[in-house]
Amino acid sequence: MSAFNMPEMHSDEFVLWQALLEKQTGLWLPESRKTFLVAALSRHMKEKSVKDYSELYSRLNAGSVSVLDWASLVDSLTVHETCFYREKASLQIVLSYCRNTLMDRFKQFPGQPQHIQLWSVGCSTGEEAYSLAIELDKLNVGFKEANTGSAYFGVAGVDISYPSLAVAREGIYLGRQLNFVPQVTKNTYFNRLSDEYYQIKDHIRQRTCFIQGNILDLQAKVKQEYDVIYCQNVLIYFKHERKLEVIAQLTKRLKPGGLLVLGHGEITSVNSDELTRVNNKHCLAYLRKDEEKRMAE
Ligand SMILES: C[S@@+](CC[C@H](N)C(=O)[O-])C[C@H]1O[C@@H](n2cnc3c(N)ncnc32)[C@H](O)[C@@H]1O
Repeated sequence: MSAFNMPEMHSDEFVLWQALLEKQTGLWLPESRKTFLVAALSRHMKEKSVKDYSELYSRLNAGSVSVLDWASLVDSLTVHETCFYREKASLQIVLSYCRNTLMDRFKQFPGQPQHIQLWSVGCSTGEEAYSLAIELDKLNVGFKEANTGSAYFGVAGVDISYPSLAVAREGIYLGRQLNFVPQVTKNTYFNRLSDEYYQIKDHIRQRTCFIQGNILDLQAKVKQEYDVIYCQNVLIYFKHERKLEVIAQLTKRLKPGGLLVLGHGEITSVNSDELTRVNNKHCLAYLRKDEEKRMAE
């Protein structure tokens, strides 16, 4: 036992756990995160009255634990840190893209409302999806006021973590979590519930939906195609080959001409003949090539 009453884990055991987690979630725990793994597993073993790591490992590996138990373990091993308006340059590129795309569609189909669908991948407790939805609503209000057109937009959030998604669906946050939200936005888009808590207004919550899913298993869960796929601060925990696999899957779910925004610095470059890099040094974004253009190349 260690000083904090956590059973010690040998290096060969750690390697097995590393591989199991990587296989199930894509999450790659470096040696430096061993204490974090040990703490999470010890908590779980105590709750489930499991006597040691190897018993827990065998149960998980054999699939003889409930989906919810597995999910709660994964939840304690993943990082859920997020906040409103977190990646400003990436948000900016999404807004420019949506503005230009909608303007083109309004011109092409005058008088017809247009649809635009966004996807926040690894959405955690929802702040990212709501930041996108709020900014799209502002864009839409501007279009309506200028009589340019009107858009139906939707933002879907996907995450592996059930507890994070429960928070996202409620859309209730502590006042201090709104520190990066401009005051006017706070007044327009949040209801004050008490001295401490604020809730996203219904008309924005109705434009969002939150779905549980593993991004390594997108084929099974996500059938729809999106105009924008926004994946920030998720790939950082994956090994290089996994990152490329996930990016290939995400690309398949982009509409032709759609925008894929990845975390700046999470991957150096993506070599795909389906994607063109957007020229912007502050963020990492790609456009899915139009099928016709791709065939003509
Ligand atoms: C650090 S948070 C990033 C949240 C948000 N994208 C942001 O940038 O603020 C990473 C999120 O990715 C989720 N995640 C990690 N592995 C995942 C997987 N295999 N499938 C789906 N979500 C995953 C975690 O549960 C966590 O909520």
